[in-house]
Amino acid sequence: MKRDFLAITDFTKDEIYEIMEIARELKKVQKNGKSYKPLKDKSMAMIFQKPSARTRVSFETGMYQLGGHAVYLSPTDIQIGKREAVSDIARVLSRYTDVIMARLFGHEDILELAEYATVPVINGLTDLLHPCQVMSDVFTILEKKGSLENLKIAYIGDGNNVLNSWLNMASRLPMNLVLGTPEEYEPDKEILSMAKKSGVSQIDLYHNPKMAVKNADVIYTDVWVSMGQEKEKELRREIFKEYQVDDDLVNLADDDVIVMHCLPAHRGEEITDSVVDGPHSVVFDEAENRLHVQKAILVKLLGTE
Ligand code: CP
Ligand code: NVA
Repeated sequence: MKRDFLAITDFTKDEIYEIMEIARELKKVQKNGKSYKPLKDKSMAMIFQKPSARTRVSFETGMYQLGGHAVYLSPTDIQIGKREAVSDIARVLSRYTDVIMARLFGHEDILELAEYATVPVINGLTDLLHPCQVMSDVFTILEKKGSLENLKIAYIGDGNNVLNSWLNMASRLPMNLVLGTPEEYEPDKEILSMAKKSGVSQIDLYHNPKMAVKNADVIYTDVWVSMGQEKEKELRREIFKEYQVDDDLVNLADDDVIVMHCLPAHRGEEITDSVVDGPHSVVFDEAENRLHVQKAILVKLLGTE
């Protein structure tokens, strides 16, 4: 039976920790200049309907480091769902490659891709979720803080794909997740309610960034205008302006707070230069960890034979 990774909830708590452990090992191997190529002769198709720097480069490089090969398919190449049905692309790519990674607009399209593909499908971001990002974020927090338990993680800004994946994570690993979003920009209702119902984590919701970050160990933010929402840019900039992560906001958190952002950052909007480049920021370690964690996800889904 093939395994997909479309949402963090596709993995159990134990599997998430297992992937963190594999990632730690793979990072060590990489840092020691050693090579480990369990995916020799394997190939991955990477479908992108949206732009990307980190996801593309970390997956492509990661696959190469593991001994495999990645094929980049740009938004103009296969035009999934337009030039050709999602279900046909799924079946065709499954005949050539061993795994498919896709960054798509509609979450329903990645579900259909996974349904028809006979090889594992990995979600490289949809409008609803960004699971690879949050796996890497948790890995980064474990590196910096040792554990998630007893940590207060404050997510400030838009209730978007990244926050939805954080909520999925909170329904697997125990943490105190505090959300600070404008009222009309809360995360997906169903995902929020599932995370609360799971009873795994304490989840608090404020419509006030200052209350949300009080004594936080981690402050997390993301863009106010996600890919595909460009038409709402002016309105969103106005609504979110109180939610900027600046030095004053960071000063309300714990003295040892770490500041995270999945990047790309819109400097001067959701986060100031002084915070991104300041002493609390771990954004570039976080970006690096996409490589190690996604390699671990590939090893987990494809095996090491
Ligand atoms: N964080 C992230 O997914 O970055 P890209 O959009 O550049 O891939
Ligand atoms: N929420 C952002 C994340 C980018 C990595 C977006 O969807 O554009």
